[in-house]
Amino acid sequence: MIDKLNRKIEYMRISVTDRCNLRCVYCMPEEGIENVSHEEILSYDEIIRICKCVANLGIKKIKITGGEPLVRKDIINLIKDIKEIDGIDEVTITTNGVLLYEMVDQLCEAGIDAVNISLDTLYRDKFFKITRRDKHENVFMAINKLIDLGIRVKINCLAIKEHNLDEIVKIAAYSKNNNIDVRFIELMPIGHGKSYTGISNEVILDLLENEYGTFKKVKEKRGNGPAVYYKNDDFKGCIGLISAISNEFCETCNRVRLTANGFLKLCLHYNKGIDLKMPIRNNITDKDLENMIYHAIRNKPLGHNFYHDSNIENVENKNMVQIGG
Ligand code: GTP
Ligand code: 5AD
Ligand code: SF4
Repeated sequence: MIDKLNRKIEYMRISVTDRCNLRCVYCMPEEGIENVSHEEILSYDEIIRICKCVANLGIKKIKITGGEPLVRKDIINLIKDIKEIDGIDEVTITTNGVLLYEMVDQLCEAGIDAVNISLDTLYRDKFFKITRRDKHENVFMAINKLIDLGIRVKINCLAIKEHNLDEIVKIAAYSKNNNIDVRFIELMPIGHGKSYTGISNEVILDLLENEYGTFKKVKEKRGNGPAVYYKNDDFKGCIGLISAISNEFCETCNRVRLTANGFLKLCLHYNKGIDLKMPIRNNITDKDLENMIYHAIRNKPLGHNFYHDSNIENVENKNMVQIGG
């Protein structure tokens, strides 16, 4: 499916819940946020119906996100069912890793194609400071289990001056010693993220090159997201840089998002999009639903405009936990 700006849209990120078992300071307040009620979130049947429609329109890759997707009951069955839809080539998940260790085998059985895990620090006490929960060990055990099983795994590290500037080089070593990718994400000024100082990808690359020598850009496509990958001869895996701020990738954006309460969100930074839940609950036909989604995606906005918020309409005010990264 091609939008009006000639971008090929073939990737949908589905946030299956806005609940989370961590409280990362850049994402959520200590007390959590008011969760959407059970009736308000899409049922699995509704999600599957939307997936079938978008698969007809050319969406080939699905990313399961949250909140924390593994806290939603029966998530494994949903993944299994999405994998079986004609036209869907790949289903991947982005998780904080807390519940992952116990669920790895089921995820593999369901056919998950790859797993991204968030990890901002190698230290237990700092993990607690950042996430307000003592779950560091769970995340490490899960990462190591995935590596042992040979599952495609990437680490997502949100680079923040107040948190991990002193650890960047060490965290990167995960992909020196293992065949996995470590990706450094630039902090986006969204919700609580506005209170912290991001580290640009340029600074990250400098730090890594000072420590490990030259990194060369990888030409082949890796993954479906906006990360740009680099390789160092001594590294088994790659380093990925997600330059949400310094190097806007909106011109080549390939994705839309479905929120837990059934809103088809056309860009991370805008609340523009369409509600799919009401039409579905009011018995819209498959054909009309597909048509509705088609026209919404055709009109996907050009891109984010983080630093000119006050000049534009429809700016998203939600926290990342409600958007799904
Ligand atoms: P894969 O590489 O295929 O795993 O996809 P991905 O990189 O999209 O997956 P992941 O869910 O791990 O996303 C990593 C981070 O990329 C997110 O947490 C966001 O910070 C950032 N990101 C993903 N999509 C967008 C987008 O459309 N716009 C912006 N600005 N950032 C995005
Ligand atoms: N900017 C960029 N990434 C963010 N994430 C959470 N908040 C932000 C933000 N403001 C990341 C998490 C996780 C992913 C799902 O989203 O660190 O890796
Ligand atoms: Fe949960 Fe992810 Fe937000 Fe942390 S960043 S509170 S893990 S949704």
